[in-house]
Amino acid sequence: MSLTTPSLSGHLNKWFDSDFNFHHLYPLYIRELAQKHWTPLKVAQKASDFLAAKSGAKILDIGSGPGKFCLSGAYYNPAANFYGIEQRNDLVFYATTAKEMLGLSNVTFIHANLLELDFREYDHFYFFNSFYENLPGTQKIDNKLSYSRSLYNSYNRYLCDQLKKMPAGTRLATYHCSEEEVPGGYHLVGTEIDHLLSFWIKV
Ligand SMILES: C[S@@+](CC[C@H](N)C(=O)[O-])C[C@H]1O[C@@H](n2cnc3c(N)ncnc32)[C@H](O)[C@@H]1O
Repeated sequence: MSLTTPSLSGHLNKWFDSDFNFHHLYPLYIRELAQKHWTPLKVAQKASDFLAAKSGAKILDIGSGPGKFCLSGAYYNPAANFYGIEQRNDLVFYATTAKEMLGLSNVTFIHANLLELDFREYDHFYFFNSFYENLPGTQKIDNKLSYSRSLYNSYNRYLCDQLKKMPAGTRLATYHCSEEEVPGGYHLVGTEIDHLLSFWIKV
């Protein structure tokens, strides 16, 4: 067994030994995007531990990319169920392939735009500043989509409206987000990773 391609049989934890190992679940072009666009394992572990506070919780990653947060959350918290919604077909394909390679049953990936989703089907949420690509001067995942400030605003508005409808006790973990992106009613209960990862609970 080489360090870069952990064996599939009996050594699931090898994939989770390091971000480097984990990224070898994906083809090269997705690995090359990882540093900028996908959640590091130690962030995913802290965020998913916070969100999976109760057994059976349904946790949604808002813009799940190739599934790194959901897959690692599902590995670290087997009693919770992780869902990822992602607009890019290729990323959903590689997320699903990685799920099968890891043999995780508590993860589901949905290929859709966030605007089609009712958040009330879920309990708690993870958000890694997913709409930033729409802002001028930011690094893009690819050049297949059209980007605009008006899309950024409408996605953020939808996110806020949906989060506002959630009941008291709803948990939210944000990574690389400013406080303005979180609607009133969500109280900051902690931060980690130099304040880049924030934990919120709706009151
Ligand atoms: C910064 S990446 C984060 C990926 C993943 N959550 C992680 O932490 O590893 C943001 C993802 O959100 C997706 N995204 C952005 N806007 C979206 C929308 N309106 N609907 C669905 N997915 C969206 C992008 O395609 C991208 O894959």
